[in-house]
Amino acid sequence: MNANNPWPADAQAIEEAARRLAGAALVAFPTETVYGLGADAASGRAVAEVYRLKGRPADHPLIVHVLDATQAAWWAHWPARAQRLADAFWPGPLTLILVRRDGAPAFACGGQTSIGLRAPSHPVARALLAAFAAHGGHGVAAPSANRFGRLSPTRAAHVIDDLGDEAPMVLDGGPCDVGVESTIVDLTREQPVLLRPGGVTLAQLEASLGEPVLASDAQAPRASGTLEAHYAPATPVELVGSDEIDRRIAWMHQRGERVALWVRSGAGARADARLAMPAEPAAAARALYDALRALDGSGCRRILVERVPDHVAWYAVADRLRRAAAGSNR
Ligand code: TXA
Ligand code: MG
Repeated sequence: MNANNPWPADAQAIEEAARRLAGAALVAFPTETVYGLGADAASGRAVAEVYRLKGRPADHPLIVHVLDATQAAWWAHWPARAQRLADAFWPGPLTLILVRRDGAPAFACGGQTSIGLRAPSHPVARALLAAFAAHGGHGVAAPSANRFGRLSPTRAAHVIDDLGDEAPMVLDGGPCDVGVESTIVDLTREQPVLLRPGGVTLAQLEASLGEPVLASDAQAPRASGTLEAHYAPATPVELVGSDEIDRRIAWMHQRGERVALWVRSGAGARADARLAMPAEPAAAARALYDALRALDGSGCRRILVERVPDHVAWYAVADRLRRAAAGSNR
């Protein structure tokens, strides 16, 4: 591992990162959701390197990060609904799936005629996008900076842990504030469709659009974040009701197996590794991947996670936990 990585994200490092992007090299950078593995979205060579390094199937599209609606409209047709959502939530944790313009580079689109666009709010991401624009760039394609199917990184150190010697320059902007990936809404169909829940809620989308937003269905374009087996740590994850936790731990201990636990209640005092889940859903989202990573590294046979309340405010956290459990119990 390069001892100089990650780089503190000062003005000089950001300029160096923009220069590297312009030269078709990769740069990992912080966003308010998770760290991204960035490439010039208009460079086929750079985008191909993202797919290779991530180990991501070629037909899974990437999100292109832009500064604002003006840059977004360079890539895609920009309907009134997009303008409304951008006015309300950009810069921020919302990705819009739009119809790509003829002639706009399609390297990041995984064979779709649509494109995913997001203007992140993290000041380092914005500074990087602005510096890249000064080098003639139009947008940065960036999936989460983890290997395919693994937990998304919410700290610079996670990126380096995960990509190891292959990690490109990583800009360190501290821990991510939202902690789960952006909300994705598809605006290419007759009605808006929510493809992935995140920091912007369905209710917020509907309030801003003044119309219903459908939940994702089988006809939705493929989004790798919507595969069941995604976001999984190596250790199996199991979701458990509050009143079953102690019994489950006792049962595993009888078999000589160590148990890790992420828990909101006072249950599970006998767990071998135990982290407290924040009581507020936004704080739980912020802590989610960090907690699963830490428990994954605790050497336990299984990670138990206390079920979260069945309430819309918990939708994004519940979604990622369900996928982590599905992904690790294949
Ligand atoms: O918060 C985020 O969105 C983070 C940060 C780095 O911005 N990025 C992220 O990227 O989560 P990734 O590649 O891990 O997930 C992007 C999701 C994938 O599920 C991808 O398939 C979907 O967006 N996506 C991108 N373009 C799409 C398109 N044209 N149609 C359908 N889904 C698309
Ligand atoms: Mg991802």
